[in-house]
Amino acid sequence: MLDARNQIFERLNNFRWEAQLNISTRGIAEVDKPDAGHYATIHYSAVYRVLRHLSLQPSDTFVDVGCGKGRILCCAARRPCRKVVGIDYCEEFCKEAQTNAARMRGRRVPVVVHNGAAEEFDYTEATALFFFSPFGASTLAAVLQKMDHDSQHRRIRLAFVNCNEEQDKVFARQSWLELYGYWRAAGRRAHSVHFYRRTGAEID
Ligand SMILES: C[S@@+](CC[C@H](N)C(=O)[O-])C[C@H]1O[C@@H](n2cnc3c(N)ncnc32)[C@H](O)[C@@H]1O
Repeated sequence: MLDARNQIFERLNNFRWEAQLNISTRGIAEVDKPDAGHYATIHYSAVYRVLRHLSLQPSDTFVDVGCGKGRILCCAARRPCRKVVGIDYCEEFCKEAQTNAARMRGRRVPVVVHNGAAEEFDYTEATALFFFSPFGASTLAAVLQKMDHDSQHRRIRLAFVNCNEEQDKVFARQSWLELYGYWRAAGRRAHSVHFYRRTGAEID
């Protein structure tokens, strides 16, 4: 957990980034879907730290699975990748994500937002993915199975923020994925992050 001084610093930093990007992504909201978590987002400092570790390349299609209002999409769209894609079940969040992506300052690449269930999305183009614990273990299992099927043999890596014990067990069953990084929640890190990649795929 962050201490009080760090909390204040992170909140001020969030306000600064929302103003600089000209977007609005804060808040917490319930999501009306079985196994779905609520809407929330992570500090900008954490977003940029994770994106740096994913090391996006010009050939990458970045996907935020459960993109909410689009904070991660807007940060990723400032980096030199091919395309940024968001998928969210909630129509209202998708509209907000689209509005944010259209008005944001400093966008370098196209942003596309899909309204639908992550377990039905086509992951053929995805090479780098982000999850901020959007759903429980059963949905995660279905999503990872679809992702493996759609991305057959391609280099793919993902960051998963705040993995719980049940989700951890789902990842442990994925023989096609290997853990290549782990950040424990401590000090300035309010969240744990697991980094997985397709087994045998080297990350540049
Ligand atoms: C914790 S929020 C994360 C939002 C965003 N990734 C961020 O970090 O700013 C989780 C999001 O996942 C979405 N979600 C939950 N279950 C979903 C599903 N099965 N398919 C697509 N989106 C889902 C919710 O609507 C919510 O916006």
